Amino acid sequence: MKNIEIIGGKRLSGKLRIHGAKNSVLPIIAGAMLNSGKTVIKDCPNLSDVHSAFNILRNLGCKVALAGNVAEIDAEDVTCSSIPDDLMKEMRSSVMFLGAIISRCGNACISCPGGCDLGPRPIDLHIKAFRELGVEIEETEKYIYCKKNSELFGGNICLDFPSVGATENIMLLTAKSDGVTIIDNPAKEPEIVDLQNFLNSMGADISGAGTDKITIRGVRTLRDTIYTVIPDRIAASTYLCAAAGCGGEVTLLNVVPQHIDKVIWVLRNAGCYIFESENAVKIISDGKLKAVSGIETHPHPGFPTDVQAPVMAALSMTQGTTIFIENLFKGRFRHVAELQKMGADITRFNQVAAVRGVERLSGAEVVATDLRGGAALVIAGLMAEGKTIISDILHIDRGYEHIEKDLALLGANIRRV
Ligand code: UD1
Repeated sequence: MKNIEIIGGKRLSGKLRIHGAKNSVLPIIAGAMLNSGKTVIKDCPNLSDVHSAFNILRNLGCKVALAGNVAEIDAEDVTCSSIPDDLMKEMRSSVMFLGAIISRCGNACISCPGGCDLGPRPIDLHIKAFRELGVEIEETEKYIYCKKNSELFGGNICLDFPSVGATENIMLLTAKSDGVTIIDNPAKEPEIVDLQNFLNSMGADISGAGTDKITIRGVRTLRDTIYTVIPDRIAASTYLCAAAGCGGEVTLLNVVPQHIDKVIWVLRNAGCYIFESENAVKIISDGKLKAVSGIETHPHPGFPTDVQAPVMAALSMTQGTTIFIENLFKGRFRHVAELQKMGADITRFNQVAAVRGVERLSGAEVVATDLRGGAALVIAGLMAEGKTIISDILHIDRGYEHIEKDLALLGANIRRV
Protein backbone atom coordinates (compact mmCIF):
# COMPACT_ATOMS: atom_id res chain seq x y z
CA MET A 1 0.00 0.00 0.00
CA LYS A 2 1.41 3.38 -1.01
CA ASN A 3 1.60 6.50 1.16
CA ILE A 4 1.95 10.18 0.41
CA GLU A 5 4.92 11.82 2.07
CA ILE A 6 5.08 15.60 2.42
CA ILE A 7 7.72 17.93 3.82
CA GLY A 8 5.65 21.00 4.57
CA GLY A 9 6.36 24.69 4.59
CA LYS A 10 6.75 25.50 0.88
CA ARG A 11 4.84 28.28 -0.82
CA LEU A 12 2.97 27.22 -3.95
CA SER A 13 3.30 28.97 -7.26
CA GLY A 14 2.59 28.30 -10.91
CA LYS A 15 -0.20 27.14 -13.18
CA LEU A 16 -2.29 24.00 -13.07
CA ARG A 17 -4.99 22.66 -15.37
CA ILE A 18 -7.97 21.17 -13.55
CA HIS A 19 -9.19 17.78 -14.78
CA GLY A 20 -12.74 16.89 -15.76
CA ALA A 21 -15.31 16.49 -13.00
CA LYS A 22 -15.51 13.09 -11.32
CA ASN A 23 -19.06 13.70 -10.13
CA SER A 24 -20.13 14.58 -13.67
CA VAL A 25 -18.42 11.82 -15.52
CA LEU A 26 -19.76 8.99 -13.36
CA PRO A 27 -23.46 9.47 -14.23
CA ILE A 28 -22.42 10.29 -17.80
CA ILE A 29 -20.64 6.93 -18.04
CA ALA A 30 -23.84 5.26 -16.82
CA GLY A 31 -25.82 7.33 -19.34
CA ALA A 32 -23.66 6.06 -22.22
CA MET A 33 -25.38 2.67 -21.96
CA LEU A 34 -28.76 4.23 -22.83
CA ASN A 35 -27.66 4.41 -26.48
CA SER A 36 -27.02 1.17 -28.37
CA GLY A 37 -24.02 2.78 -30.02
CA LYS A 38 -20.88 4.77 -29.36
CA THR A 39 -20.16 7.56 -26.91
CA VAL A 40 -16.92 9.53 -26.74
CA ILE A 41 -16.24 11.38 -23.49
CA LYS A 42 -13.54 14.04 -23.59
CA ASP A 43 -11.70 15.33 -20.53
CA CYS A 44 -12.59 12.10 -18.77
CA PRO A 45 -10.56 12.13 -15.54
CA ASN A 46 -8.28 9.14 -15.05
CA LEU A 47 -9.43 8.22 -11.53
CA SER A 48 -9.99 4.95 -9.72
CA ASP A 49 -13.75 5.66 -9.42
CA VAL A 50 -13.88 6.15 -13.19
CA HIS A 51 -12.15 2.79 -13.71
CA SER A 52 -14.68 1.20 -11.33
CA ALA A 53 -17.49 2.65 -13.46
CA PHE A 54 -15.81 1.30 -16.62
CA ASN A 55 -15.59 -2.13 -15.02
CA ILE A 56 -19.32 -2.02 -14.30
CA LEU A 57 -20.00 -1.17 -17.97
CA ARG A 58 -17.70 -4.00 -19.13
CA ASN A 59 -19.47 -6.41 -16.82
CA LEU A 60 -22.78 -5.35 -18.41
CA GLY A 61 -21.36 -6.22 -21.85
CA CYS A 62 -20.12 -2.85 -23.12
CA LYS A 63 -16.69 -2.19 -24.61
CA VAL A 64 -14.69 0.61 -23.01
CA ALA A 65 -11.32 2.16 -23.83
CA LEU A 66 -9.54 5.11 -22.25
CA ALA A 67 -6.70 6.79 -24.16
CA GLY A 68 -5.29 9.76 -22.27
CA ASN A 69 -8.41 11.59 -21.18
CA VAL A 70 -10.67 10.41 -23.99
CA ALA A 71 -13.00 7.54 -23.19
CA GLU A 72 -14.79 5.53 -25.87
CA ILE A 73 -17.77 3.46 -24.87
CA ASP A 74 -19.47 1.03 -27.21
CA ALA A 75 -22.81 0.02 -25.71
CA GLU A 76 -24.17 -1.87 -28.71
CA ASP A 77 -24.36 -5.08 -26.71
CA VAL A 78 -25.66 -5.07 -23.18
CA THR A 79 -25.79 -8.67 -22.11
CA CYS A 80 -26.34 -8.49 -18.37
CA SER A 81 -28.55 -6.44 -16.04
CA SER A 82 -26.90 -6.99 -12.67
CA ILE A 83 -23.79 -5.61 -11.01
CA PRO A 84 -21.67 -8.02 -8.94
CA ASP A 85 -21.19 -7.23 -5.24
CA ASP A 86 -17.47 -6.49 -5.50
CA LEU A 87 -18.05 -3.81 -8.17
CA MET A 88 -20.97 -2.31 -6.24
CA LYS A 89 -18.84 -2.01 -3.10
CA GLU A 90 -16.07 -0.13 -4.88
CA MET A 91 -18.05 3.08 -5.01
CA ARG A 92 -21.31 4.59 -3.95
CA SER A 93 -22.04 5.98 -7.41
CA SER A 94 -22.57 2.45 -8.68
CA VAL A 95 -26.20 3.03 -7.66
CA MET A 96 -26.23 5.50 -10.54
CA PHE A 97 -26.34 2.59 -12.95
CA LEU A 98 -29.72 1.46 -11.63
CA GLY A 99 -31.84 3.87 -13.70
CA ALA A 100 -29.76 3.32 -16.82
CA ILE A 101 -29.85 -0.49 -16.54
CA ILE A 102 -33.62 -0.57 -15.97
CA SER A 103 -34.12 1.75 -18.94
CA ARG A 104 -31.93 -0.37 -21.20
CA CYS A 105 -32.76 -3.90 -20.00
CA GLY A 106 -36.18 -3.64 -18.33
CA ASN A 107 -34.86 -5.07 -15.08
CA ALA A 108 -31.87 -4.71 -12.76
CA CYS A 109 -30.34 -6.29 -9.70
CA ILE A 110 -27.77 -4.55 -7.52
CA SER A 111 -26.55 -4.95 -3.97
CA CYS A 112 -26.37 -2.05 -1.54
CA PRO A 113 -23.74 0.46 -2.73
CA GLY A 114 -20.34 1.14 -1.12
CA GLY A 115 -18.24 4.32 -1.37
CA CYS A 116 -16.90 6.83 1.16
CA ASP A 117 -17.82 6.07 4.74
CA LEU A 118 -19.66 9.31 5.45
CA GLY A 119 -22.27 7.81 7.77
CA PRO A 120 -25.62 6.42 6.65
CA ARG A 121 -26.20 6.96 2.92
CA PRO A 122 -29.67 5.65 2.17
CA ILE A 123 -31.11 5.43 -1.34
CA ASP A 124 -34.75 5.62 -0.26
CA LEU A 125 -35.39 8.70 -2.43
CA HIS A 126 -34.19 6.84 -5.54
CA ILE A 127 -36.38 3.85 -4.72
CA LYS A 128 -39.46 5.93 -3.90
CA ALA A 129 -39.20 7.89 -7.16
CA PHE A 130 -38.66 4.74 -9.23
CA ARG A 131 -41.76 3.15 -7.67
CA GLU A 132 -43.79 6.29 -8.42
CA LEU A 133 -42.65 6.02 -12.03
CA GLY A 134 -43.93 2.47 -12.29
CA VAL A 135 -40.84 0.37 -11.54
CA GLU A 136 -41.52 -2.70 -9.39
CA ILE A 137 -38.90 -2.98 -6.67
CA GLU A 138 -38.19 -5.72 -4.20
CA GLU A 139 -35.63 -5.02 -1.51
CA THR A 140 -33.99 -7.77 0.51
CA GLU A 141 -31.34 -7.30 3.18
CA LYS A 142 -28.56 -7.40 0.57
CA TYR A 143 -30.09 -6.89 -2.85
CA ILE A 144 -32.44 -4.59 -4.75
CA TYR A 145 -34.40 -6.19 -7.60
CA CYS A 146 -36.09 -3.84 -10.08
CA LYS A 147 -38.43 -4.58 -12.95
CA LYS A 148 -40.28 -2.40 -15.39
CA ASN A 149 -43.36 -4.25 -16.64
CA SER A 150 -44.29 -1.89 -19.44
CA GLU A 151 -42.98 1.31 -21.00
CA LEU A 152 -42.50 4.20 -18.56
CA PHE A 153 -45.12 6.89 -19.05
CA GLY A 154 -43.45 9.52 -16.85
CA GLY A 155 -44.99 11.25 -13.87
CA ASN A 156 -44.53 14.02 -11.33
CA ILE A 157 -41.81 13.39 -8.77
CA CYS A 158 -41.31 15.72 -5.83
CA LEU A 159 -38.07 14.93 -4.01
CA ASP A 160 -38.24 15.34 -0.22
CA PHE A 161 -34.59 16.44 -0.38
CA PRO A 162 -32.65 17.64 -3.45
CA SER A 163 -30.48 14.51 -3.65
CA VAL A 164 -27.85 14.66 -6.39
CA GLY A 165 -27.85 10.91 -6.97
CA ALA A 166 -31.64 10.55 -6.97
CA THR A 167 -32.05 13.44 -9.43
CA GLU A 168 -29.47 11.91 -11.78
CA ASN A 169 -30.94 8.43 -11.47
CA ILE A 170 -34.43 9.68 -12.37
CA MET A 171 -33.02 11.53 -15.39
CA LEU A 172 -31.24 8.36 -16.52
CA LEU A 173 -34.32 6.21 -15.98
CA THR A 174 -36.70 8.46 -17.89
CA ALA A 175 -34.63 10.06 -20.68
CA LYS A 176 -35.82 7.20 -22.92
CA SER A 177 -39.49 6.74 -22.09
CA ASP A 178 -42.98 7.28 -23.46
CA GLY A 179 -44.03 10.20 -21.29
CA VAL A 180 -43.08 13.41 -19.58
CA THR A 181 -41.42 13.30 -16.17
CA ILE A 182 -41.20 16.35 -13.96
CA ILE A 183 -38.82 16.48 -11.01
CA ASP A 184 -39.75 19.08 -8.40
CA ASN A 185 -37.12 20.07 -5.84
CA PRO A 186 -34.27 18.44 -7.80
CA ALA A 187 -30.60 18.90 -6.96
CA LYS A 188 -29.21 21.96 -8.78
CA GLU A 189 -25.51 21.09 -8.80
CA PRO A 190 -23.51 21.94 -11.97
CA GLU A 191 -23.11 18.18 -12.49
CA ILE A 192 -26.90 17.90 -12.96
CA VAL A 193 -26.74 20.51 -15.71
CA ASP A 194 -23.82 18.62 -17.25
CA LEU A 195 -25.81 15.36 -17.26
CA GLN A 196 -28.74 17.17 -18.93
CA ASN A 197 -26.40 18.62 -21.58
CA PHE A 198 -24.81 15.22 -22.18
CA LEU A 199 -28.15 13.41 -22.53
CA ASN A 200 -29.47 16.16 -24.82
CA SER A 201 -26.35 15.80 -26.98
CA MET A 202 -27.48 12.17 -27.45
CA GLY A 203 -30.93 13.34 -28.53
CA ALA A 204 -32.76 13.45 -25.19
CA ASP A 205 -35.21 16.28 -24.46
CA ILE A 206 -34.50 17.54 -20.95
CA SER A 207 -34.79 21.09 -19.67
CA GLY A 208 -34.68 22.96 -16.37
CA ALA A 209 -31.54 21.41 -14.82
CA GLY A 210 -30.03 23.91 -12.39
CA THR A 211 -33.50 25.28 -11.51
CA ASP A 212 -36.30 24.16 -9.16
CA LYS A 213 -37.96 21.97 -11.78
CA ILE A 214 -36.55 19.55 -14.36
CA THR A 215 -38.72 18.42 -17.26
CA ILE A 216 -37.79 15.23 -19.06
CA ARG A 217 -39.73 14.59 -22.26
CA GLY A 218 -39.03 10.97 -22.99
CA VAL A 219 -37.68 10.07 -26.43
CA ARG A 220 -37.70 6.65 -28.15
CA THR A 221 -34.12 6.57 -29.45
CA LEU A 222 -30.78 8.17 -28.71
CA ARG A 223 -27.75 8.66 -30.94
CA ASP A 224 -23.96 8.57 -30.74
CA THR A 225 -22.30 11.58 -29.20
CA ILE A 226 -18.96 13.22 -28.43
CA TYR A 227 -19.13 15.15 -25.18
CA THR A 228 -16.67 17.14 -23.03
CA VAL A 229 -17.15 16.95 -19.26
CA ILE A 230 -17.15 20.14 -17.15
CA PRO A 231 -14.10 20.94 -15.00
CA ASP A 232 -13.95 19.45 -11.50
CA ARG A 233 -15.06 22.21 -9.14
CA ILE A 234 -14.09 20.21 -6.05
CA ALA A 235 -10.53 19.60 -7.31
CA ALA A 236 -10.26 23.31 -8.20
CA SER A 237 -11.49 24.27 -4.72
CA THR A 238 -9.01 21.88 -3.11
CA TYR A 239 -6.03 23.42 -4.93
CA LEU A 240 -7.29 26.92 -4.04
CA CYS A 241 -7.41 25.89 -0.38
CA ALA A 242 -3.87 24.50 -0.62
CA ALA A 243 -2.56 27.77 -2.08
CA ALA A 244 -4.55 29.79 0.48
CA GLY A 245 -3.13 27.84 3.43
CA CYS A 246 0.48 27.59 2.18
CA GLY A 247 0.70 31.05 0.67
CA GLY A 248 1.80 31.74 -2.87
CA GLU A 249 0.44 32.67 -6.27
CA VAL A 250 -1.36 29.97 -8.23
CA THR A 251 -3.40 30.11 -11.42
CA LEU A 252 -5.89 27.33 -12.07
CA LEU A 253 -6.92 26.78 -15.68
CA ASN A 254 -10.06 24.99 -16.86
CA VAL A 255 -12.25 26.27 -14.03
CA VAL A 256 -15.76 27.72 -14.14
CA PRO A 257 -15.55 30.44 -11.47
CA GLN A 258 -19.35 30.52 -10.91
CA HIS A 259 -19.23 26.85 -9.92
CA ILE A 260 -16.96 27.68 -6.98
CA ASP A 261 -18.29 31.11 -6.00
CA LYS A 262 -19.02 30.15 -2.38
CA VAL A 263 -15.48 28.80 -1.92
CA ILE A 264 -14.01 31.94 -3.49
CA TRP A 265 -16.14 34.04 -1.13
CA VAL A 266 -14.84 32.19 1.93
CA LEU A 267 -11.20 32.39 0.86
CA ARG A 268 -11.52 36.11 0.06
CA ASN A 269 -12.98 36.64 3.53
CA ALA A 270 -10.02 34.76 4.94
CA GLY A 271 -7.70 37.33 3.35
CA CYS A 272 -6.80 35.88 -0.06
CA TYR A 273 -6.86 37.84 -3.30
CA ILE A 274 -8.71 35.94 -6.00
CA PHE A 275 -9.06 37.00 -9.62
CA GLU A 276 -11.58 35.34 -11.93
CA SER A 277 -11.65 35.18 -15.71
CA GLU A 278 -13.91 33.20 -18.01
CA ASN A 279 -12.25 29.84 -17.40
CA ALA A 280 -9.43 30.47 -14.95
CA VAL A 281 -8.96 31.59 -11.36
CA LYS A 282 -5.83 33.10 -9.83
CA ILE A 283 -5.20 33.15 -6.08
CA ILE A 284 -2.63 35.19 -4.20
CA SER A 285 -2.22 34.43 -0.51
CA ASP A 286 0.39 35.41 2.08
CA GLY A 287 -0.50 32.26 4.00
CA LYS A 288 -1.60 34.31 7.03
CA LEU A 289 -5.33 33.70 6.97
CA LYS A 290 -8.10 35.10 9.16
CA ALA A 291 -10.95 33.04 10.57
CA VAL A 292 -14.25 33.52 8.74
CA SER A 293 -17.67 34.10 10.24
CA GLY A 294 -18.94 30.53 9.81
CA ILE A 295 -19.17 27.82 7.18
CA GLU A 296 -22.33 25.78 6.83
CA THR A 297 -22.73 23.16 4.11
CA HIS A 298 -25.89 23.07 1.99
CA PRO A 299 -27.01 21.62 -1.32
CA HIS A 300 -25.96 23.74 -4.33
CA PRO A 301 -25.90 26.74 -4.56
CA GLY A 302 -24.85 26.60 -0.89
CA PHE A 303 -21.35 25.89 0.38
CA PRO A 304 -20.42 22.40 -0.91
CA THR A 305 -20.03 19.61 1.62
CA ASP A 306 -17.15 18.21 -0.46
CA VAL A 307 -15.06 21.33 0.24
CA GLN A 308 -15.73 21.48 3.98
CA ALA A 309 -12.70 19.35 4.87
CA PRO A 310 -10.20 21.11 2.54
CA VAL A 311 -11.31 24.55 3.78
CA MET A 312 -11.07 23.36 7.38
CA ALA A 313 -7.45 22.36 6.82
CA ALA A 314 -6.66 25.74 5.22
CA LEU A 315 -8.32 27.63 8.10
CA SER A 316 -6.69 25.57 10.85
CA MET A 317 -3.76 28.05 10.95
CA THR A 318 -5.51 31.41 11.34
CA GLN A 319 -6.15 34.15 13.80
CA GLY A 320 -9.53 33.50 15.40
CA THR A 321 -12.13 30.75 15.36
CA THR A 322 -14.18 29.42 12.47
CA ILE A 323 -17.34 27.42 13.14
CA PHE A 324 -18.18 24.65 10.67
CA ILE A 325 -21.64 23.11 10.42
CA GLU A 326 -21.94 19.97 8.29
CA ASN A 327 -25.57 19.51 7.26
CA LEU A 328 -25.32 16.83 4.58
CA PHE A 329 -23.36 13.85 5.86
CA LYS A 330 -23.19 12.75 9.50
CA GLY A 331 -19.79 11.09 9.05
CA ARG A 332 -18.07 13.94 7.26
CA PHE A 333 -15.90 15.11 10.17
CA ARG A 334 -13.62 12.09 10.28
CA HIS A 335 -10.64 14.20 9.21
CA VAL A 336 -10.97 16.23 12.43
CA ALA A 337 -9.19 13.59 14.55
CA GLU A 338 -6.37 13.39 11.98
CA LEU A 339 -5.98 17.19 11.85
CA GLN A 340 -5.82 17.17 15.67
CA LYS A 341 -2.84 14.78 15.44
CA MET A 342 -1.08 17.52 13.48
CA GLY A 343 -1.76 20.11 16.17
CA ALA A 344 -5.04 21.61 14.95
CA ASP A 345 -7.24 22.93 17.77
CA ILE A 346 -10.71 21.66 16.91
CA THR A 347 -13.64 20.97 19.20
CA ARG A 348 -16.39 18.91 17.70
CA PHE A 349 -19.93 18.31 18.86
CA ASN A 350 -22.16 16.27 16.55
CA GLN A 351 -22.38 18.19 13.27
CA VAL A 352 -20.58 21.31 14.53
CA ALA A 353 -16.83 21.85 14.71
CA ALA A 354 -15.09 24.91 16.17
CA VAL A 355 -11.65 25.44 14.63
CA ARG A 356 -9.49 27.73 16.74
CA GLY A 357 -6.60 28.84 14.58
CA VAL A 358 -3.14 27.77 15.74
CA GLU A 359 0.23 29.29 14.88
CA ARG A 360 1.68 26.13 13.45
CA LEU A 361 0.81 22.58 12.47
CA SER A 362 3.33 19.78 12.85
CA GLY A 363 3.91 16.89 10.48
CA ALA A 364 2.48 13.56 11.68
CA GLU A 365 1.47 10.09 10.52
CA VAL A 366 -2.19 10.34 9.56
CA VAL A 367 -4.80 8.25 7.77
CA ALA A 368 -6.93 9.41 4.83
CA THR A 369 -10.37 8.55 6.18
CA ASP A 370 -12.30 9.38 3.01
CA LEU A 371 -11.74 11.18 -0.29
CA ARG A 372 -12.14 14.85 0.68
CA GLY A 373 -10.91 14.25 4.24
CA GLY A 374 -7.76 12.78 2.66
CA ALA A 375 -7.34 15.89 0.49
CA ALA A 376 -7.63 18.00 3.66
CA LEU A 377 -4.72 16.06 5.18
CA VAL A 378 -2.63 16.73 2.08
CA ILE A 379 -3.31 20.47 2.51
CA ALA A 380 -2.49 20.32 6.23
CA GLY A 381 0.71 18.39 5.43
CA LEU A 382 1.77 21.09 2.95
CA MET A 383 1.16 23.78 5.62
CA ALA A 384 2.81 21.89 8.50
CA GLU A 385 6.37 21.99 9.75
CA GLY A 386 8.24 18.75 9.13
CA LYS A 387 7.20 15.45 7.60
CA THR A 388 3.66 14.17 7.17
CA ILE A 389 2.94 10.63 6.04
CA ILE A 390 -0.60 9.96 4.82
CA SER A 391 -1.72 6.35 4.51
CA ASP A 392 -4.86 4.84 2.89
CA ILE A 393 -4.39 7.17 -0.06
CA LEU A 394 -6.58 4.99 -2.25
CA HIS A 395 -9.40 7.26 -1.06
CA ILE A 396 -7.59 10.31 -2.46
CA ASP A 397 -6.98 8.59 -5.80
CA ARG A 398 -10.74 8.18 -6.19
CA GLY A 399 -11.09 11.90 -6.88
CA TYR A 400 -7.76 13.51 -7.80
CA GLU A 401 -5.66 12.68 -10.84
CA HIS A 402 -2.02 12.46 -9.61
CA ILE A 403 -2.48 14.90 -6.72
CA GLU A 404 1.18 14.65 -5.73
CA LYS A 405 2.42 15.40 -9.26
CA ASP A 406 0.16 18.44 -9.58
CA LEU A 407 1.25 19.84 -6.21
CA ALA A 408 4.92 19.10 -6.93
CA LEU A 409 4.49 21.13 -10.15
CA LEU A 410 3.45 24.03 -7.93
CA GLY A 411 6.62 23.65 -5.87
CA ALA A 412 5.42 21.41 -3.03
CA ASN A 413 7.78 18.82 -1.55
CA ILE A 414 5.44 15.85 -1.92
CA ARG A 415 5.83 12.32 -3.23
CA ARG A 416 4.18 8.95 -3.34
CA VAL A 417 6.26 6.33 -1.54
C1 UD1 B 1 -23.18 13.40 -4.46
C2 UD1 B 1 -21.70 13.51 -4.71
C3 UD1 B 1 -20.96 13.77 -3.42
C4 UD1 B 1 -21.54 14.98 -2.71
C5 UD1 B 1 -23.05 14.85 -2.56
C6 UD1 B 1 -23.70 16.09 -1.99
C7 UD1 B 1 -21.35 12.12 -6.66
C8 UD1 B 1 -20.73 10.90 -7.22
N1 UD1 B 1 -21.22 12.29 -5.33
O1 UD1 B 1 -23.36 12.27 -3.62
O2 UD1 B 1 -19.58 14.01 -3.73
O3 UD1 B 1 -20.94 15.10 -1.44
O4 UD1 B 1 -23.65 14.59 -3.84
O5 UD1 B 1 -23.39 17.20 -2.76
O6 UD1 B 1 -21.91 12.92 -7.38
N2 UD1 B 1 -30.10 10.95 0.95
C9 UD1 B 1 -31.14 10.25 1.49
N3 UD1 B 1 -31.82 9.36 0.69
C10 UD1 B 1 -31.48 9.16 -0.61
C11 UD1 B 1 -30.40 9.91 -1.16
C12 UD1 B 1 -29.74 10.79 -0.36
O7 UD1 B 1 -31.46 10.40 2.66
O8 UD1 B 1 -32.14 8.35 -1.29
C13 UD1 B 1 -29.35 11.90 1.79
C14 UD1 B 1 -27.90 11.45 1.98
O9 UD1 B 1 -27.79 10.50 3.01
C15 UD1 B 1 -27.21 12.74 2.29
C16 UD1 B 1 -27.97 13.76 1.44
O10 UD1 B 1 -29.23 13.16 1.15
O11 UD1 B 1 -27.37 13.06 3.64
C17 UD1 B 1 -27.28 14.14 0.16
O12 UD1 B 1 -27.10 12.99 -0.64
P1 UD1 B 1 -26.99 13.07 -2.23
O13 UD1 B 1 -27.26 14.46 -2.67
O14 UD1 B 1 -27.84 11.98 -2.78
O15 UD1 B 1 -25.47 12.75 -2.46
P2 UD1 B 1 -24.82 11.66 -3.41
O16 UD1 B 1 -25.52 11.64 -4.71
O17 UD1 B 1 -24.64 10.40 -2.66
